[in-house]
Amino acid sequence: MLHLVTKHAQLSLQVLPSGHVALVYLGSRIGETDLSYVVTDIKRASYLADTDSIKDFKLEQISQLYPAYGNPDLRTPAHKEVYSDGSRISDFRYSHHEFLTVKPQLDGLPYASGDQTQTLRLVLQDTVTDCELAITITAFYDHDVFTQSVQFTNGTKEELTIQSLQSLNLDLLTDQYDLITLTGAWGREMGISRRGLYQGIQGVDSKRGASGHGQNPFIALADAETMENQGSVIACSLLYSGNFSALAEVDMHQNTRLQLGINPFEFDWTLAAGEAFQTPEACFLYTDQGLNAMSQTFHRFFQDCVVRSRYADKERPVLLNNWEATYFDFDAQKLTALADEAAAVGVELFVLDDGWFGDRKDDTTSLGDWQPNEEKLGGTLNELVQRITAKGLRFGLWLEPEMVSPASDLYHAHPDWAVQVAGRTPQQVRHQYVLDLCNPAVQEYLIATLTELLTTADIRYVKWDMNRNLTDCYSPTLAPKRQSEFAHRYILGLYRILAAVTTRFPDVLFEGCAGGGGRFDAGMLYYMPQSWASDDTDAIERLKIQAGTALVYPPVAMGCHISAVPNHQVGRITEIATRAVVAQQGNFGYELNLLALSEEEKLVIKEQIATYKKRRRTLQFGLHYRLRVYDKENEFAWMKVSKDGTQAIISHVTLLAKPNTVPKRLKLLGLQPELFYRMGDTVRSGKEWQQIGISLPKPTHDFFAAQWELTQTEQPPVLL
Ligand code: GLA
Repeated sequence: MLHLVTKHAQLSLQVLPSGHVALVYLGSRIGETDLSYVVTDIKRASYLADTDSIKDFKLEQISQLYPAYGNPDLRTPAHKEVYSDGSRISDFRYSHHEFLTVKPQLDGLPYASGDQTQTLRLVLQDTVTDCELAITITAFYDHDVFTQSVQFTNGTKEELTIQSLQSLNLDLLTDQYDLITLTGAWGREMGISRRGLYQGIQGVDSKRGASGHGQNPFIALADAETMENQGSVIACSLLYSGNFSALAEVDMHQNTRLQLGINPFEFDWTLAAGEAFQTPEACFLYTDQGLNAMSQTFHRFFQDCVVRSRYADKERPVLLNNWEATYFDFDAQKLTALADEAAAVGVELFVLDDGWFGDRKDDTTSLGDWQPNEEKLGGTLNELVQRITAKGLRFGLWLEPEMVSPASDLYHAHPDWAVQVAGRTPQQVRHQYVLDLCNPAVQEYLIATLTELLTTADIRYVKWDMNRNLTDCYSPTLAPKRQSEFAHRYILGLYRILAAVTTRFPDVLFEGCAGGGGRFDAGMLYYMPQSWASDDTDAIERLKIQAGTALVYPPVAMGCHISAVPNHQVGRITEIATRAVVAQQGNFGYELNLLALSEEEKLVIKEQIATYKKRRRTLQFGLHYRLRVYDKENEFAWMKVSKDGTQAIISHVTLLAKPNTVPKRLKLLGLQPELFYRMGDTVRSGKEWQQIGISLPKPTHDFFAAQWELTQTEQPPVLL
């Protein structure tokens, strides 16, 4: 038996006498003992192939670590290759393993790293072809997370093609689960979908060249009884930003195969003799403490072990972004006037969004021409930055480096850099093409251009946008037989650029964006510690989007702004207090025209920001708990508890006000039962706040929000 353990979870593998490797156990810790009876106890089913002609040794019934195709398991394989003779089956058996104290790095891909890790490197070999599969599994002890990645080495003397190489395969001996995924669309990202498993294949995938608005590289299996604070869940997330597949297959005998990795669709990777291919890394966890524990485990793991930025643990500035304030219609005077107002209310970072470069007056031109439009900016970019920073603000800039407008100097100089198939008219989205990041010349050009731009002025923040998906996939830099490598090579090119730029500018705070949350994944978090969550800025819509995002990703990674009312996407009017409560669930900022607000409104904003700054550490980095509400369709509640446990901020939003309803109490979580906490003049024990809770106010109108602060205090004197 091979065991890997974390503080609370255990993964146990067994090398069977046949040399196949079985995944015998994934669950809470039960001791590192002999669990081989799990395999021998399996009662044999009919009509399945015997393995190695041993009667009733049916691999298709066994939970395997990394199943091959067709020999003899006929479920979805974890990998599949085409060999030079045209054959596709393979037979990988245990070769050797080692335990490593240092987790190996991944070249050109994001990967997790941390203290207190134990890594198992298990090598399987196909003796007919001499090909090898090296499976690297790491247990992050303190973080209660495992990671896995796989490397395939072509041991034949010929070329072969990999058609699928998943990062993770978890075979489980039951189908009694609910499948949880994140689905939606532009403006409706990260809806939480939960449904019971059924026989067949189910899950989410992306063929869009990015992880996408409507699907996310996350998949979880929870017991039907699992709730926020109790029950078992196995959850997986892929550190990858391109085409992925996350599926659960229930077989004929009620077993479940969970897989996560690069989407085999449009993926054929040619591997020369002796060459290796490395998958992205997947992380996975097991908890029996419910969905709140799952979320908190992911949050902490991503923050501590995945995000590489210096800002990982630094408080993020309150920003004002001019997009919804001005769209493309701005000049130097408007920007400086906005910046004056921003500085006056306490904003710390002024972000100049789209429209500052080339001839960009609307979205039809200039992507690729990253030269500041000095007419619009009233001078050089550096002069504008100096004017803004002189007001005590930091300066940030929007960029969309991966794109090119047909109406741009860059396109005229390098039409072949736009992704397209020669002889066909490429498709435009938002009047733009995608640059061919498979092309090393394009990568070099972008690294040089961005380096130059970020050196010309004191730019402290970059919003790295990506406003379309990939169509017309083809790169003239790839041989015809390698065209199905395009989507993965695009992401490798992107990662190379991101690694170069973020390493060169470690003090710049990078925020990812893809028309909102169209590429919000753990791969991007490795390079950029935060991402704009959605282009839908309506507070009520945001409740669902943010709940889904924070199910997996750290709230501090989630850009959340207060915007104007009526809201620009849905026309809804919500009061500013509600907008603030919702935006403070994540990384807080404003995206509205301060110049159009009354003095009273600006005063409210000033107070919001002042209070936020006092609570910022807790709001951004506190443990995030979703609280149980009485009417799930109509209420959202959550709280954050500071890492040292001394402060908690509780938020509650009611959607529609209803007649003759009596608000119930809101029970809190995450407090020390024996300690005391003050809310205003009231001091009660953690036990009381948790068991009896806060008395909710009665909503006087729709979209009514409330927020409370609890601070730890001394036990009050007992009155006799
Ligand atoms: C995308 C982003 C927005 C804004 C615009 C600018 O839609 O998500 O926040 O930056 O582009 O064109």
